[in-house]
Amino acid sequence: MTGIKAAITAVHGYLPEYVLTNQELEQMVDTSDEWISTRTGIKERRILKGEGLATSDMAAEAVKGLLEKRGISPDDVDLVVCSTVTPDMKFPATANLVSHKAGINNAFSYDMNAACSGFIYALTTAASFVETGRYKKVVVVGADKMSSIVDYTDRQTCVIFGDAASAVLLEPSEENVGLMDHAFGTDGSGHVHLHMKAGGSLKPSSHETVDAREHYVYQEGQPVFKFAVTKMAGISKELMDKNDLNVDDISWLVPHQANMRIIEAAGRRLGIPSEKVMVNIQRYGNTTNATIPLCLWDYENQLNKGDNLILTAFGGGFTWGAVWVKWAY
Ligand code: ACO
Repeated sequence: MTGIKAAITAVHGYLPEYVLTNQELEQMVDTSDEWISTRTGIKERRILKGEGLATSDMAAEAVKGLLEKRGISPDDVDLVVCSTVTPDMKFPATANLVSHKAGINNAFSYDMNAACSGFIYALTTAASFVETGRYKKVVVVGADKMSSIVDYTDRQTCVIFGDAASAVLLEPSEENVGLMDHAFGTDGSGHVHLHMKAGGSLKPSSHETVDAREHYVYQEGQPVFKFAVTKMAGISKELMDKNDLNVDDISWLVPHQANMRIIEAAGRRLGIPSEKVMVNIQRYGNTTNATIPLCLWDYENQLNKGDNLILTAFGGGFTWGAVWVKWAY
């Protein structure tokens, strides 16, 4: 090990303007504000509207804002990693398009897909490039235009998701702040509960797959709910035990914003009081890869150097994980 840690030195987000409220969803499917609020905690979510606008447009806005905020020229960025389940196209990687749109010309870039756990997987992988001393400015952006894969006739899924992007900058630090440790898990047998049926090599797109509405999120809500609570709490506990961290050492739990009841149940299992749990799902819904950095952006003013954060996520795959971060500023 080099003694160098990868520190988050800036965070910035992008939210599309259009607000899709529970009241508007009541006009679209057989649902109610009361059902959505009590079952998910969500009041509204943002939707990216406009011809020709994609995940990379939101991500590029977040990245441009991030670099401006930190006073860094796009030319100085070494690497851009984009985590997404809604790439602009199957190939090339959306990260390439983000770099291009953000004026980043001297970096290499690639995508990472671990569904809702994507951001923490991307963050940890990207951090390795900084920890080795090889790279000094690495951008990690989580972005999803979930409205492009949500079936707005399916009341079970359409109320949950929203569109957004959010990015962090990783830079080397020798002050013992930044990414300290992580724990991850994957179980491919869980794919049956959460996936997209068609459009991949298993079932290429055809008239039939479109007619059968197979290009949307397929989700069995209850198993996803159960696994999400168990795995997020379990992996966070494992990470804390491994590093001798107790509840009092933790300044903030930063859970993937899947559903308010999942967030509350995970916090309860860990014994972390609700005032130390970051929550913004009521305003944005589940934005998949963007939820964790969006929370960091929202709560940035309440964070202090040296704060211990546990970022934790669960997602399609199944994938799950937790990252211990010491806040750097
Ligand atoms: N409005 C009104 N009624 C609804 C709606 C809706 N939007 N959606 C479902 N219902 C109905 C069902 O049809 C069912 O009716 P029935 O009893 O007549 O059959 C009833 O509500 C209860 O349905 P359940 O599926 O049992 O409802 P549940 O309490 O499990 O809530 C939900 C469903 C919100 C999807 C929940 O299971 C959940 O949050 N699961 C996790 C999903 C999630 O977070 N996914 C995110 C992607 S993965 C991730 O980020 C980790």
